[in-house]
Amino acid sequence: MEPRDLEGKNVLLGVTGCIAAYKALEVVSRLRKRGGSVSVAMTESATRFVAPLSFRTISDSPVYLDMFAEPNRWNVEHIALAEWADLMVVAPATGNIMAKAANGIADDYLSTLLLAFPGPKLLAPAMNTHMWQNPATRRNTRQLIEDGYGIVEPEVGRLASGAVGPGRFPDPATVVDEISSFAHSDDTLAGTTVLITAGPTREYFDPVRFLSNPSTGKMGYALARAVRERGARTILVSGPVELTPPRGVEFIPVVSAEEMRRVCLDHWCEVDILMMSAAVADARPVHYMQDKGKKDADALLGDVIPTPDILRELGAQKGDRLIVGFAAETDREAAAENARKKLRAKGADLIALNFVGGDESAFGSEENRIVLISQSSEEELPRAHKIQVARALVNRVVRTLRGAES
Ligand code: CTP
Repeated sequence: MEPRDLEGKNVLLGVTGCIAAYKALEVVSRLRKRGGSVSVAMTESATRFVAPLSFRTISDSPVYLDMFAEPNRWNVEHIALAEWADLMVVAPATGNIMAKAANGIADDYLSTLLLAFPGPKLLAPAMNTHMWQNPATRRNTRQLIEDGYGIVEPEVGRLASGAVGPGRFPDPATVVDEISSFAHSDDTLAGTTVLITAGPTREYFDPVRFLSNPSTGKMGYALARAVRERGARTILVSGPVELTPPRGVEFIPVVSAEEMRRVCLDHWCEVDILMMSAAVADARPVHYMQDKGKKDADALLGDVIPTPDILRELGAQKGDRLIVGFAAETDREAAAENARKKLRAKGADLIALNFVGGDESAFGSEENRIVLISQSSEEELPRAHKIQVARALVNRVVRTLRGAES
Protein backbone atom coordinates (compact mmCIF):
# COMPACT_ATOMS: atom_id res chain seq x y z
CA MET A 1 0.00 0.00 0.00
CA GLU A 2 1.28 3.46 -0.92
CA PRO A 3 1.13 6.38 1.53
CA ARG A 4 -1.08 9.29 0.38
CA ASP A 5 1.69 11.72 1.16
CA LEU A 6 1.72 13.66 -2.11
CA GLU A 7 -1.92 14.70 -1.83
CA GLY A 8 -2.30 18.23 -3.22
CA LYS A 9 1.18 18.27 -4.81
CA ASN A 10 1.58 19.09 -8.49
CA VAL A 11 4.58 17.31 -9.96
CA LEU A 12 5.99 18.31 -13.32
CA LEU A 13 7.91 15.27 -14.59
CA GLY A 14 10.43 15.60 -17.38
CA VAL A 15 11.40 12.44 -19.25
CA THR A 16 14.54 12.36 -21.38
CA GLY A 17 15.77 9.88 -23.96
CA CYS A 18 17.49 6.88 -22.51
CA ILE A 19 16.72 3.21 -22.17
CA ALA A 20 15.34 3.74 -18.65
CA ALA A 21 12.60 6.04 -20.02
CA TYR A 22 10.04 3.22 -19.74
CA LYS A 23 10.61 3.12 -15.98
CA ALA A 24 9.24 6.68 -15.79
CA LEU A 25 5.79 5.21 -16.53
CA GLU A 26 5.88 3.42 -13.19
CA VAL A 27 7.17 6.59 -11.54
CA VAL A 28 4.07 8.44 -12.82
CA SER A 29 1.76 5.67 -11.68
CA ARG A 30 3.27 5.59 -8.18
CA LEU A 31 3.22 9.38 -7.84
CA ARG A 32 -0.49 9.34 -8.62
CA LYS A 33 -1.16 6.48 -6.18
CA ARG A 34 0.49 8.65 -3.53
CA GLY A 35 -2.01 11.42 -4.27
CA GLY A 36 0.12 13.60 -6.57
CA SER A 37 -1.06 15.23 -9.80
CA VAL A 38 1.44 14.70 -12.59
CA SER A 39 2.10 16.48 -15.89
CA VAL A 40 4.73 15.03 -18.17
CA ALA A 41 7.05 16.84 -20.56
CA MET A 42 9.15 14.69 -22.89
CA THR A 43 12.17 15.46 -24.99
CA GLU A 44 12.13 14.53 -28.66
CA SER A 45 14.53 11.63 -27.99
CA ALA A 46 12.39 10.33 -25.09
CA THR A 47 9.54 9.87 -27.56
CA ARG A 48 11.77 7.44 -29.51
CA PHE A 49 11.85 5.16 -26.47
CA VAL A 50 8.27 5.45 -25.16
CA ALA A 51 5.17 6.74 -26.90
CA PRO A 52 3.70 9.96 -25.43
CA LEU A 53 0.34 8.22 -25.46
CA SER A 54 1.54 5.91 -22.67
CA PHE A 55 2.38 8.89 -20.47
CA ARG A 56 -0.83 10.67 -21.40
CA THR A 57 -2.85 7.64 -20.39
CA ILE A 58 -1.02 6.94 -17.16
CA SER A 59 -0.85 10.59 -16.04
CA ASP A 60 -4.38 11.32 -17.27
CA SER A 61 -3.05 14.64 -18.59
CA PRO A 62 -1.73 16.06 -21.84
CA VAL A 63 1.95 15.40 -22.52
CA TYR A 64 4.09 18.43 -23.39
CA LEU A 65 6.46 17.88 -26.27
CA ASP A 66 6.97 20.69 -28.67
CA MET A 67 7.55 24.36 -27.94
CA PHE A 68 6.05 25.40 -31.25
CA ALA A 69 3.15 23.00 -31.61
CA GLU A 70 0.63 25.70 -30.75
CA PRO A 71 2.33 28.91 -31.87
CA ASN A 72 -0.27 31.17 -30.25
CA ARG A 73 -0.12 29.54 -26.88
CA TRP A 74 3.30 28.05 -26.17
CA ASN A 75 4.72 31.06 -24.42
CA VAL A 76 1.85 31.21 -21.99
CA GLU A 77 1.76 27.46 -21.67
CA HIS A 78 5.27 26.75 -20.40
CA ILE A 79 5.11 29.63 -17.93
CA ALA A 80 1.67 28.49 -16.76
CA LEU A 81 2.98 24.93 -16.31
CA ALA A 82 5.93 26.21 -14.29
CA GLU A 83 3.48 28.14 -12.11
CA TRP A 84 1.21 25.12 -11.68
CA ALA A 85 3.98 22.82 -10.44
CA ASP A 86 5.06 22.52 -6.80
CA LEU A 87 8.15 20.62 -7.82
CA MET A 88 9.87 19.57 -10.97
CA VAL A 89 11.55 16.21 -11.48
CA VAL A 90 13.51 14.89 -14.44
CA ALA A 91 13.58 11.09 -14.35
CA PRO A 92 15.45 9.63 -16.08
CA ALA A 93 17.82 12.53 -16.68
CA THR A 94 20.44 12.07 -19.39
CA GLY A 95 23.93 13.58 -19.34
CA ASN A 96 22.64 15.93 -22.04
CA ILE A 97 19.80 17.45 -19.98
CA MET A 98 22.17 17.77 -17.02
CA ALA A 99 24.64 19.67 -19.18
CA LYS A 100 21.89 21.96 -20.44
CA ALA A 101 20.45 22.58 -16.96
CA ALA A 102 23.91 23.25 -15.49
CA ASN A 103 24.48 25.91 -18.14
CA GLY A 104 21.04 27.45 -18.43
CA ILE A 105 20.54 26.26 -21.99
CA ALA A 106 16.89 26.27 -23.05
CA ASP A 107 16.60 24.89 -26.57
CA ASP A 108 13.55 22.63 -26.27
CA TYR A 109 10.41 22.40 -24.18
CA LEU A 110 11.87 20.53 -21.21
CA SER A 111 15.07 22.57 -20.89
CA THR A 112 12.99 25.75 -21.18
CA LEU A 113 10.73 24.53 -18.37
CA LEU A 114 13.79 23.85 -16.20
CA LEU A 115 14.95 27.41 -16.78
CA ALA A 116 11.51 28.86 -16.19
CA PHE A 117 10.66 26.90 -13.05
CA PRO A 118 11.72 28.70 -9.87
CA GLY A 119 10.72 25.95 -7.38
CA PRO A 120 12.53 22.82 -6.15
CA LYS A 121 14.03 20.65 -8.88
CA LEU A 122 15.18 17.06 -8.63
CA LEU A 123 17.09 15.05 -11.22
CA ALA A 124 17.37 11.25 -11.33
CA PRO A 125 20.24 10.63 -13.73
CA ALA A 126 20.62 7.39 -15.70
CA MET A 127 23.38 6.79 -18.18
CA ASN A 128 26.30 4.63 -19.16
CA THR A 129 29.05 4.48 -16.51
CA HIS A 130 31.61 6.30 -18.67
CA MET A 131 29.14 9.10 -19.34
CA TRP A 132 28.33 9.35 -15.62
CA GLN A 133 32.01 9.38 -14.69
CA ASN A 134 33.03 11.75 -17.46
CA PRO A 135 34.64 14.89 -15.97
CA ALA A 136 32.05 17.03 -17.78
CA THR A 137 29.17 15.17 -16.06
CA ARG A 138 31.00 15.31 -12.71
CA ARG A 139 31.45 19.07 -13.19
CA ASN A 140 27.80 19.53 -14.22
CA THR A 141 26.60 17.50 -11.23
CA ARG A 142 28.61 19.69 -8.83
CA GLN A 143 27.26 22.80 -10.52
CA LEU A 144 23.67 21.57 -10.33
CA ILE A 145 24.02 20.77 -6.63
CA GLU A 146 25.50 24.22 -6.05
CA ASP A 147 22.54 25.71 -7.94
CA GLY A 148 20.16 23.95 -5.53
CA TYR A 149 19.13 20.93 -7.60
CA GLY A 150 18.50 17.65 -5.77
CA ILE A 151 20.15 14.60 -7.33
CA VAL A 152 18.97 11.02 -6.90
CA GLU A 153 22.28 9.19 -7.24
CA PRO A 154 22.07 6.41 -9.82
CA GLU A 155 22.68 2.88 -8.64
CA VAL A 156 25.62 0.65 -9.34
CA GLY A 157 24.39 -2.29 -11.38
CA ARG A 158 24.11 -3.96 -14.74
CA LEU A 159 23.53 -1.36 -17.43
CA ALA A 160 21.84 -1.76 -20.82
CA SER A 161 25.25 -2.25 -22.43
CA GLY A 162 25.87 -5.29 -20.20
CA ALA A 163 28.62 -3.46 -18.31
CA VAL A 164 28.36 -3.22 -14.53
CA GLY A 165 28.95 0.15 -12.85
CA PRO A 166 27.28 3.32 -11.59
CA GLY A 167 24.64 4.88 -13.83
CA ARG A 168 21.64 2.60 -13.41
CA PHE A 169 18.22 4.19 -12.87
CA PRO A 170 17.00 3.04 -9.43
CA ASP A 171 13.87 1.03 -8.92
CA PRO A 172 10.86 3.38 -9.55
CA ALA A 173 9.62 2.82 -5.97
CA THR A 174 12.96 4.16 -4.70
CA VAL A 175 12.79 7.13 -7.07
CA VAL A 176 9.28 7.97 -5.86
CA ASP A 177 10.36 7.68 -2.21
CA GLU A 178 13.14 10.15 -3.04
CA ILE A 179 10.69 12.49 -4.79
CA SER A 180 8.43 12.40 -1.75
CA SER A 181 11.35 13.04 0.61
CA PHE A 182 12.43 15.92 -1.60
CA ALA A 183 8.91 17.36 -1.43
CA HIS A 184 8.98 17.12 2.38
CA SER A 185 12.51 18.34 2.94
CA ASP A 186 13.70 21.37 4.85
CA ASP A 187 16.61 22.19 7.14
CA THR A 188 14.87 22.42 10.51
CA LEU A 189 17.14 19.73 11.98
CA ALA A 190 20.33 20.76 10.17
CA GLY A 191 23.32 20.55 12.52
CA THR A 192 21.54 17.97 14.70
CA THR A 193 22.58 14.32 15.05
CA VAL A 194 19.75 11.86 15.50
CA LEU A 195 20.27 8.23 16.45
CA ILE A 196 17.44 5.87 15.60
CA THR A 197 17.28 2.22 16.55
CA ALA A 198 15.03 -0.06 14.53
CA GLY A 199 13.91 -3.63 14.01
CA PRO A 200 14.15 -6.57 16.37
CA THR A 201 17.27 -7.94 17.99
CA ARG A 202 18.13 -11.63 17.82
CA GLU A 203 19.50 -13.48 20.79
CA TYR A 204 21.02 -16.67 19.40
CA PHE A 205 21.21 -19.77 21.57
CA ASP A 206 22.89 -21.90 18.92
CA PRO A 207 24.19 -21.16 15.38
CA VAL A 208 20.73 -21.31 13.80
CA ARG A 209 18.15 -20.49 16.49
CA PHE A 210 17.36 -17.34 18.40
CA LEU A 211 14.90 -15.48 20.63
CA SER A 212 13.29 -12.50 18.88
CA ASN A 213 9.97 -10.88 17.92
CA PRO A 214 8.11 -10.06 14.67
CA SER A 215 9.27 -6.43 14.33
CA THR A 216 9.99 -5.62 10.67
CA GLY A 217 11.77 -2.29 11.28
CA LYS A 218 9.34 -0.32 9.07
CA MET A 219 8.57 2.31 11.72
CA GLY A 220 12.24 2.91 12.54
CA TYR A 221 13.24 3.10 8.86
CA ALA A 222 10.37 5.55 8.24
CA LEU A 223 11.63 7.64 11.16
CA ALA A 224 15.15 7.63 9.72
CA ARG A 225 13.77 8.91 6.42
CA ALA A 226 11.60 11.55 8.13
CA VAL A 227 14.53 12.81 10.20
CA ARG A 228 16.89 12.82 7.22
CA GLU A 229 14.34 14.89 5.28
CA ARG A 230 14.66 17.61 7.91
CA GLY A 231 18.40 17.88 7.34
CA ALA A 232 19.68 15.95 10.39
CA ARG A 233 22.72 13.73 10.41
CA THR A 234 20.92 10.42 10.83
CA ILE A 235 22.42 7.28 12.34
CA LEU A 236 20.27 4.19 11.89
CA VAL A 237 21.18 1.25 14.11
CA SER A 238 19.14 -1.70 12.95
CA GLY A 239 18.58 -5.30 13.93
CA PRO A 240 18.15 -7.85 11.11
CA VAL A 241 15.30 -6.80 8.76
CA GLU A 242 14.45 -7.07 5.07
CA LEU A 243 14.55 -3.33 4.34
CA THR A 244 16.97 -1.12 2.44
CA PRO A 245 18.10 1.82 4.57
CA PRO A 246 16.92 5.21 3.28
CA ARG A 247 19.51 7.10 1.26
CA GLY A 248 21.70 9.55 3.10
CA VAL A 249 21.60 7.84 6.50
CA GLU A 250 24.57 6.29 8.28
CA PHE A 251 23.61 2.67 8.63
CA ILE A 252 24.94 0.35 11.32
CA PRO A 253 23.56 -3.20 11.26
CA VAL A 254 23.58 -5.16 14.51
CA VAL A 255 22.19 -8.51 15.64
CA SER A 256 21.91 -8.74 19.44
CA ALA A 257 20.75 -6.33 22.15
CA GLU A 258 24.28 -6.21 23.52
CA GLU A 259 25.64 -5.17 20.10
CA MET A 260 22.94 -2.51 19.76
CA ARG A 261 23.78 -1.21 23.23
CA ARG A 262 27.50 -1.03 22.37
CA VAL A 263 26.89 0.93 19.15
CA CYS A 264 24.51 3.36 20.91
CA LEU A 265 27.00 3.97 23.72
CA ASP A 266 29.84 4.43 21.22
CA HIS A 267 27.90 7.20 19.46
CA TRP A 268 26.24 8.72 22.53
CA CYS A 269 28.51 11.76 22.81
CA GLU A 270 27.61 12.81 19.23
CA VAL A 271 23.85 12.39 19.65
CA ASP A 272 21.34 15.23 20.17
CA ILE A 273 18.16 13.20 19.73
CA LEU A 274 17.54 9.49 20.37
CA MET A 275 14.56 7.66 18.92
CA MET A 276 14.54 4.18 20.36
CA SER A 277 12.06 2.38 18.12
CA ALA A 278 13.84 -1.00 18.17
CA ALA A 279 11.90 -3.94 19.52
CA VAL A 280 14.78 -5.15 21.65
CA ALA A 281 14.35 -8.81 22.60
CA ASP A 282 13.69 -8.90 26.33
CA ALA A 283 15.67 -12.01 27.16
CA ARG A 284 18.76 -13.81 26.00
CA PRO A 285 20.03 -17.33 26.65
CA VAL A 286 22.73 -17.57 29.32
CA HIS A 287 24.70 -20.10 27.31
CA TYR A 288 25.44 -20.19 23.61
CA MET A 289 25.86 -23.65 22.11
CA GLN A 290 28.52 -23.91 19.42
CA ASP A 291 26.59 -26.76 17.75
CA LYS A 292 22.89 -26.90 17.00
CA GLY A 293 21.14 -28.16 20.15
CA LYS A 294 19.09 -31.36 19.93
CA LYS A 295 15.40 -31.06 20.69
CA ASP A 296 15.37 -34.09 22.97
CA ALA A 297 18.08 -32.50 25.14
CA ASP A 298 17.03 -31.80 28.75
CA ALA A 299 17.04 -28.10 28.17
CA LEU A 300 17.10 -27.10 24.51
CA LEU A 301 17.19 -23.39 25.23
CA GLY A 302 18.68 -23.43 28.70
CA ASP A 303 18.32 -20.56 31.17
CA VAL A 304 17.52 -17.07 29.93
CA ILE A 305 18.35 -13.70 31.49
CA PRO A 306 17.08 -10.19 30.65
CA THR A 307 18.91 -8.28 27.93
CA PRO A 308 20.38 -4.91 28.90
CA ASP A 309 17.73 -2.18 28.91
CA ILE A 310 19.40 0.17 26.43
CA LEU A 311 16.90 3.00 26.73
CA ARG A 312 17.08 3.01 30.52
CA GLU A 313 20.88 3.07 30.43
CA LEU A 314 20.99 5.93 27.90
CA GLY A 315 18.21 7.78 29.72
CA ALA A 316 20.35 7.74 32.86
CA GLN A 317 23.05 9.66 30.93
CA LYS A 318 20.57 11.93 29.15
CA GLY A 319 22.24 15.33 29.56
CA ASP A 320 20.38 17.86 27.42
CA ARG A 321 19.44 15.32 24.75
CA LEU A 322 15.87 14.75 23.66
CA ILE A 323 14.81 11.12 24.02
CA VAL A 324 11.86 9.44 22.36
CA GLY A 325 11.13 5.92 23.55
CA PHE A 326 8.54 3.51 22.26
CA ALA A 327 6.13 1.30 24.12
CA ALA A 328 4.76 -1.87 22.58
CA GLU A 329 1.59 -2.78 24.44
CA THR A 330 -1.06 -5.43 24.00
CA ASP A 331 -3.34 -4.50 26.92
CA ARG A 332 -5.32 -1.54 25.58
CA GLU A 333 -6.82 -0.72 28.99
CA ALA A 334 -3.48 -0.42 30.74
CA ALA A 335 -1.48 0.82 27.73
CA ALA A 336 -1.34 4.54 28.54
CA GLU A 337 -0.49 3.90 32.18
CA ASN A 338 2.25 1.40 31.21
CA ALA A 339 3.65 3.86 28.68
CA ARG A 340 3.72 6.60 31.33
CA LYS A 341 5.61 4.27 33.66
CA LYS A 342 8.16 3.61 30.90
CA LEU A 343 8.50 7.37 30.32
CA ARG A 344 9.41 7.91 33.98
CA ALA A 345 11.51 4.78 34.47
CA LYS A 346 13.60 5.23 31.32
CA GLY A 347 14.18 8.98 31.39
CA ALA A 348 12.41 9.67 28.07
CA ASP A 349 10.83 13.02 27.10
CA LEU A 350 8.25 11.32 24.92
CA ILE A 351 6.93 7.79 24.57
CA ALA A 352 5.34 6.69 21.32
CA LEU A 353 2.81 4.11 22.38
CA ASN A 354 1.90 1.52 19.77
CA PHE A 355 -0.38 -1.40 19.99
CA VAL A 356 0.99 -4.80 19.10
CA GLY A 357 -0.81 -8.11 18.80
CA GLY A 358 -4.36 -8.51 17.49
CA ASP A 359 -5.85 -7.12 14.28
CA GLU A 360 -4.31 -3.66 14.42
CA SER A 361 -0.83 -4.77 15.41
CA ALA A 362 1.94 -2.30 14.59
CA PHE A 363 4.31 -5.20 13.87
CA GLY A 364 4.77 -5.72 10.14
CA SER A 365 1.91 -3.43 9.13
CA GLU A 366 2.39 -0.59 6.62
CA GLU A 367 0.27 1.56 8.88
CA ASN A 368 0.45 2.52 12.49
CA ARG A 369 -1.49 4.44 15.08
CA ILE A 370 0.50 5.90 17.92
CA VAL A 371 -0.27 7.87 21.03
CA LEU A 372 2.44 10.33 22.06
CA ILE A 373 2.81 10.56 25.79
CA SER A 374 4.88 13.17 27.64
CA GLN A 375 4.96 14.21 31.32
CA SER A 376 2.15 16.67 30.72
CA SER A 377 0.28 15.59 27.61
CA GLU A 378 -1.25 12.81 25.57
CA GLU A 379 -1.72 13.23 21.81
CA GLU A 380 -3.09 10.64 19.45
CA LEU A 381 -1.67 10.61 15.92
CA PRO A 382 -4.31 9.23 13.57
CA ARG A 383 -3.76 5.84 11.94
CA ALA A 384 -1.79 6.38 8.74
CA HIS A 385 1.05 4.96 6.69
CA LYS A 386 4.21 4.69 8.79
CA ILE A 387 6.04 7.41 6.83
CA GLN A 388 3.19 9.83 7.59
CA VAL A 389 3.17 8.84 11.26
CA ALA A 390 6.96 9.23 11.33
CA ARG A 391 6.73 12.74 9.84
CA ALA A 392 4.07 13.72 12.39
CA LEU A 393 6.27 12.40 15.20
CA VAL A 394 9.27 14.34 13.89
CA ASN A 395 7.10 17.49 13.72
CA ARG A 396 6.30 16.99 17.38
CA VAL A 397 10.03 16.59 18.16
CA VAL A 398 10.78 19.84 16.29
CA ARG A 399 8.05 21.64 18.28
CA THR A 400 9.45 20.25 21.54
CA LEU A 401 12.99 21.39 20.63
CA ARG A 402 11.66 24.87 19.96
CA GLY A 403 10.05 24.87 23.39
CA ALA A 404 6.59 25.11 21.83
CA GLU A 405 5.62 21.84 23.51
CA SER A 406 6.93 19.79 26.41
N1 CTP B 1 14.04 -1.16 25.26
C1 CTP B 1 15.43 -1.15 25.38
N2 CTP B 1 16.07 -2.26 25.82
C2 CTP B 1 15.39 -3.37 26.15
C3 CTP B 1 13.98 -3.41 26.05
C4 CTP B 1 13.34 -2.27 25.58
O1 CTP B 1 16.05 -0.13 25.07
N3 CTP B 1 16.05 -4.43 26.58
C5 CTP B 1 13.36 0.06 24.80
C6 CTP B 1 12.54 -0.11 23.54
O2 CTP B 1 13.33 0.17 22.38
C7 CTP B 1 11.46 0.93 23.71
C8 CTP B 1 11.25 0.96 25.22
O3 CTP B 1 12.45 0.44 25.80
O4 CTP B 1 11.88 2.22 23.28
C9 CTP B 1 10.07 0.17 25.71
O5 CTP B 1 10.12 -1.12 25.17
P1 CTP B 1 8.95 -2.18 25.42
O6 CTP B 1 9.30 -3.45 24.72
O7 CTP B 1 7.61 -1.56 25.16
O8 CTP B 1 9.00 -2.36 26.97
P2 CTP B 1 9.94 -3.12 27.93
O9 CTP B 1 10.82 -2.14 28.63
O10 CTP B 1 10.63 -4.25 27.23
O11 CTP B 1 8.89 -3.64 28.99
P3 CTP B 1 7.72 -4.72 28.83
O12 CTP B 1 8.24 -5.75 27.85
O13 CTP B 1 7.58 -5.23 30.22
O14 CTP B 1 6.51 -4.00 28.34
